[in-house]
Amino acid sequence: MPLLLIVFTLLLYLRIPASSAATDTLLAGQAFGVNHKLISKNGRYALGFFQTSSKSTGNTNNWYLGIWFNTVPKFTYAWVANRDKPIKNTTSLELTISQDGNLVILNRSTKSIIWTTQANIKRNSTTVVLSSDGNLILGSSSNSSEVLWQSFDHPTDTFFPGAKLGLDKVTGLNRRIVSWKNLIDPATGVYCEKLDPSGVDQFLFTPLNSSIPYWSTGVWNGKYFPSIPEMTGSNQIFTSTFVDNDQGKYLTFNLVDETMVTRNVIDVSGQTKQFIWLEGSQDWTMIYAQPKAPCDVYAICGPFTICNDNMFPHCTCMEGFIIASPEDWELEDRTSGCSRNTPLDCISNKSTTHTTDKFYSLPCIKLPQKAPEVEAAASASECAQACLSNCSCTAYSFNNDRCCTWHDELLNIRALQCSGTTNSTGETLYLRVSAKDFNRLKNNRKDIIIGVAIGAGLSAFILLIMILRNKRKSSGHIPDGVQGCNGIIAFGFSDLQRATNKFTNKLGAGSFGAVFKGFIDDSFAVAVKRLDSAYQGEKQFRAEVSSIGAIQHINLVKLVGFCCEGSKRLLVYEYMSNSSLDAHLFRVNSTTLNWTARYQIALGVARGLAYLHESCRDCIIHCDIKPENILLDGSFIPKIADFGMAKLLGREFSRVLTTMRGTVGYLAPEWIAGVAITPKVDVYSYGMVLLEIISGRKNSYAPCSSSGNLDVYFPVHAAHKLLEGEVGNLVDQMLHADVNLDEAELACKVACWCIQDEEFHRPTMGEVVQILEGRVEIGMPPVPRLLKAMAGSSHSP
Ligand SMILES: *[C@@H]1O[C@H](CO)[C@@H](O)[C@H](O)[C@H]1NC(C)=O
Ligand SMILES: *[C@@H]1O[C@H](CO)[C@@H](O)[C@H](O)[C@H]1NC(C)=O
Ligand SMILES: *[C@@H]1O[C@H](CO)[C@@H](O)[C@H](O)[C@H]1NC(C)=O
Ligand SMILES: *[C@@H]1O[C@H](CO)[C@@H](O)[C@H](O)[C@H]1NC(C)=O
Ligand SMILES: *[C@@H]1O[C@H](CO)[C@@H](O)[C@H](O)[C@H]1NC(C)=O
Ligand SMILES: *[C@@H]1O[C@H](CO)[C@@H](O)[C@H](O)[C@H]1NC(C)=O
Ligand SMILES: *[C@@H]1O[C@H](CO)[C@@H](O)[C@H](O)[C@H]1NC(C)=O
Ligand SMILES: *[C@@H]1O[C@H](CO)[C@@H](O)[C@H](O)[C@H]1NC(C)=O
Repeated sequence: MPLLLIVFTLLLYLRIPASSAATDTLLAGQAFGVNHKLISKNGRYALGFFQTSSKSTGNTNNWYLGIWFNTVPKFTYAWVANRDKPIKNTTSLELTISQDGNLVILNRSTKSIIWTTQANIKRNSTTVVLSSDGNLILGSSSNSSEVLWQSFDHPTDTFFPGAKLGLDKVTGLNRRIVSWKNLIDPATGVYCEKLDPSGVDQFLFTPLNSSIPYWSTGVWNGKYFPSIPEMTGSNQIFTSTFVDNDQGKYLTFNLVDETMVTRNVIDVSGQTKQFIWLEGSQDWTMIYAQPKAPCDVYAICGPFTICNDNMFPHCTCMEGFIIASPEDWELEDRTSGCSRNTPLDCISNKSTTHTTDKFYSLPCIKLPQKAPEVEAAASASECAQACLSNCSCTAYSFNNDRCCTWHDELLNIRALQCSGTTNSTGETLYLRVSAKDFNRLKNNRKDIIIGVAIGAGLSAFILLIMILRNKRKSSGHIPDGVQGCNGIIAFGFSDLQRATNKFTNKLGAGSFGAVFKGFIDDSFAVAVKRLDSAYQGEKQFRAEVSSIGAIQHINLVKLVGFCCEGSKRLLVYEYMSNSSLDAHLFRVNSTTLNWTARYQIALGVARGLAYLHESCRDCIIHCDIKPENILLDGSFIPKIADFGMAKLLGREFSRVLTTMRGTVGYLAPEWIAGVAITPKVDVYSYGMVLLEIISGRKNSYAPCSSSGNLDVYFPVHAAHKLLEGEVGNLVDQMLHADVNLDEAELACKVACWCIQDEEFHRPTMGEVVQILEGRVEIGMPPVPRLLKAMAGSSHSP
């Protein structure tokens, strides 16, 4: 089974080569320039000058002195010396030890100091060493244990194993980490992780300019921080210690397996993220991100935006607003947020008495906690009037006879997933907009979104015949390989360019490349997937395509053809008129699937997977089961997409898989544990998807809880409710209780068995089919232990 082999090798951790010839030491009198570097004795870290890249802007790039992971092919910086003093020109640039013993970045020709360690050094014979744990140490030449300055005391955004985060009581130094300004600029950013200054044993996440935390780790309980349950449980990757003695008060952690390459950062997203490097995937795999809900981070989308945890991207402009700085936005620096299409009349006409400004309602919103102005207003219209009478007022809400107004920039507005039946549907915010924008928005709202619904019911066989006939007729040219095995058509690139109208109608961006809608012979709708790059040679690609093309099942998306020209690799699939499952489950305003349809979808997906696992010649593990990969045809028959990608992409597959955003989500624990992957990873993902089909919401967040508690982890909640016999509460409220409760209970049981920690506790897909068909009985599942630990309560101050 070649696939199993591939995936297994993907998961071996990166091992560090023994040693290298390069030096780890800089002595007094030595200097080095942009083309040199220090490499730690174990080869793991390097120190040198690097240049940031900015593909989008094309600006002249800045130079920095920093430490990076020397064994990781994807350049990743862990420390930057001069984060706020970028170097523009490398002429005469050097790193050396100055007369006073400090390490300095120097302009050799002008002798001006660009950056210095600024240590108070009494003797001037010093040495610099890049140690094996990634610490840059300025020490005394005569006494190697005397540390005069170290990079661990001045971290940027990365918390190294062995380093200390927190207070040095002797020197008064408080070590904290601060995010980068944006994805490519290491300058001091907006978010900060630091020891609670009030003396409580916890770490706070705050905007740099504020002391009000948007998230905290919870108080250290002797073993772990309650809000990071990932720190507990068996097969831990780290041992963490919180120290409080005369010397200091800090957190430190060490790797259990010294050879593992890990990275703990405070990200541009304001979340703390823990990554491990997986050799096979050639990328960082995220183990956890906290806070879990991206919208918990203060002002993450900037002013006049709406943050939605259940959508990606999470940030959108409020209606009537546009992105203020697309360049910054693209680089995930959202501090400037969105700005008005049209200025308020109140501002441009400088009159509050006869303003033409209007209010546009934004329903189903979670209003910001920050105390708004409360006005004395007896009715909604009085409240509106109160807002209109002050030019700085940008929005109001009127709930329970309380009139609240907001002034100037609106921050931290969150969208909730509201269902029609409950009364906890969030609140409505009335946003002040100019009359011009208001009228445009009002008209837009009336537009009915008409989905493309073009049948794709013809069998691939008929399609093939038609194309062949047409090809002969039109050009007399049949692309080579057309008669290829299994009825798979080899398209020329120009054919597909024409079919997709030069790749204009984008259906979506899948995990491995963008997908475009096209028509073959102007009549047959197809979905053309353009793979991001040529991962495999032509011969092997053709072989794999033909073996994937041979797999046919009602619940699997049919591969119609492919294109393989030069470095171009495209796949052509039958077009699914009802898009993917996520569009029906999670999106606002989507038509809800009724219970019968959902059960049939659950069963269909199970059948498709069982076929992949058990019935085709080579066992195929999908590895990426999620609602986005479950397509629905004109009759809502589910079809699994993207199977066999591991075969097509080889080692690249896992890279793509693991760089996908979000938390571990649908991935089974085996992916992180680094053991061999079996079909049971699909069973796990299936269980997660099944819960979402039942509940109609993303597993990670509770919908619309007005209490602000967004941390209920649904899979665990479901397992508990199942044991308590309260399945009815778990089912999507959009179904208005029109549900077959026996089926719902069965589906819940199946889902909870599928997400068990141990793969041998999970059923096979074949068994799942039999259970859902009612042919086999199933017992009550226990609550999955690992998930329970991960879900623990979280402190959101
Ligand atoms: C750097 O400075 C030198 C000398 O002033 C100049 O010749 C060179 O063009 C500059 N390089 C850049 C990239 O600006
Ligand atoms: C050093 O100074 C020279 C002369 O002013 C200048 O051309 C060069 O760009 C400077 N280099 C750095 C790294 O600042
Ligand atoms: C440092 O070294 C220089 C030259 O070697 C010497 O002139 C100076 O006195 C020394 N300074 C101290 C504080 O030892
Ligand atoms: C070397 O430095 C350490 C730490 O400052 C100190 O404890 C030790 O006494 C020093 N040893 C000598 C020989 O000076
Ligand atoms: C912090 O506040 C100061 C002054 O209010 C401002 O200049 C600075 O840009 C702010 N920094 C951040 C990261 O918001
Ligand atoms: C400003 O007020 C005048 C008269 O009241 C009106 O005609 C004009 O349209 C207003 N300007 C805007 C931008 O609405
Ligand atoms: C408008 O509201 C702001 C914020 O509440 C307040 O500071 C300001 O005085 C008000 N202006 C007028 C004209 O009432
Ligand atoms: C929802 O409505 C019911 C009955 O009208 C009421 O008892 C309950 O308190 C309401 N819940 C909320 C959160 O408003």
